[in-house]
Amino acid sequence: MKRLVQAIPLPAALIGASQRVVCTNSGFDELFGEDVVGRYFVAALRQPAVIEAIEVAFRDAAEHTAHYLGRDGSTDATFQMFARSVGEDVLITFSDRTVTEAAVRMRSDFIANVSHELRTPLTALQGFIETLRGAARNDPEIRDRFLQIMDQEAGRMTRLVDELMSLSRLEQVERTRPTEIVSLKSVLSAAQEGLEPILQAAALTMTLSLPADEITVRGDFAQLQQVFTNLMENAVKYGAKGGRIDVALSTMSHQKLLRGAGAVVTVHDYGDGIASHHIPRLTERFYRVDSHRSRAVGGTGLGLAIVKHIVNRHRGRMKIDSIEGEGTTISVILPE
Ligand SMILES: Nc1ncnc2c1ncn2[C@@H]1O[C@H](COP(=O)(O)OP(=O)(O)OP(=O)(O)O)[C@@H](O)[C@H]1O
Ligand SMILES: [Mg+2]
Repeated sequence: MKRLVQAIPLPAALIGASQRVVCTNSGFDELFGEDVVGRYFVAALRQPAVIEAIEVAFRDAAEHTAHYLGRDGSTDATFQMFARSVGEDVLITFSDRTVTEAAVRMRSDFIANVSHELRTPLTALQGFIETLRGAARNDPEIRDRFLQIMDQEAGRMTRLVDELMSLSRLEQVERTRPTEIVSLKSVLSAAQEGLEPILQAAALTMTLSLPADEITVRGDFAQLQQVFTNLMENAVKYGAKGGRIDVALSTMSHQKLLRGAGAVVTVHDYGDGIASHHIPRLTERFYRVDSHRSRAVGGTGLGLAIVKHIVNRHRGRMKIDSIEGEGTTISVILPE
């Protein structure tokens, strides 16, 4: 019996008719410690739901399950415990559900976020439609102003839907590395050109420091342009007060983060910067440091999540360095 329990690939233990633990395997020992054999299972397992399931399993032949909350190193872990009688004894096994439960939670958070982001502009639109039908019906000036705001709100929804679609497309191709060879100088120039109108509107100058030699990487032109557009656009939106943005491209024969040769693009702004505790979370979907301010400039918190997916697909790295009050530098490192 002991050898059988040891061969089970999940944490497992056998509890005897005496209510004491008869034998365990190494997975179980990792979860509960090494000195459980011989102890009463009630004292060793402690959690009421688990104990109850085992007690029932002693009385009938069916399988009984319970949730077990454990620790995996320093993080919380959830397990499902199965208890089933084997002759006079009860065999218990534990299956780790942490990852599945996190995925379920992420999915429902995601849906809640999307709904919330769509509801805000929809509520605004409905309010304006109502006013246009009633009080503002015969006032051309108010009508024009409202139509302009409605146009903005509809634009915000379109943008959100576009970003969500590009995220889902990216998830599908993330595992396949692009095969084209693209010039990073052309990618950066294209991104800058596309932003010319908003640079002018914000009275910002953006300098591109490009090396004399051509620098190429294996990549997807449109996706890389998206990466630098998103980063430059953030620099405009959140760093405008610095008056200028510096973008630089260089190569390194040995890039530490890549353990090999790579190209580095840095986008540097001189704005307010980002407090360090926010930095690890910026690439989460819908994460915004100051959601009021970000929403006011039309942000949905998906830009950096998209950047991260594209950089992953290119087997590259992204690094965010920021000093509060001085500015932010975002580096994208791509393997050659
Ligand atoms: N250069 C920057 N300086 C200061 N804060 C920044 C900078 N770049 C990003 N942030 C912060 O990180 C948050 C997330 O950025 P992200 O690009 O993912 O979303 P967004 O700009 O709010 O919306 P979207 O890009 O989807 O329009 C922003 O809301 C902003 O608070
Ligand atoms: Mg952004």
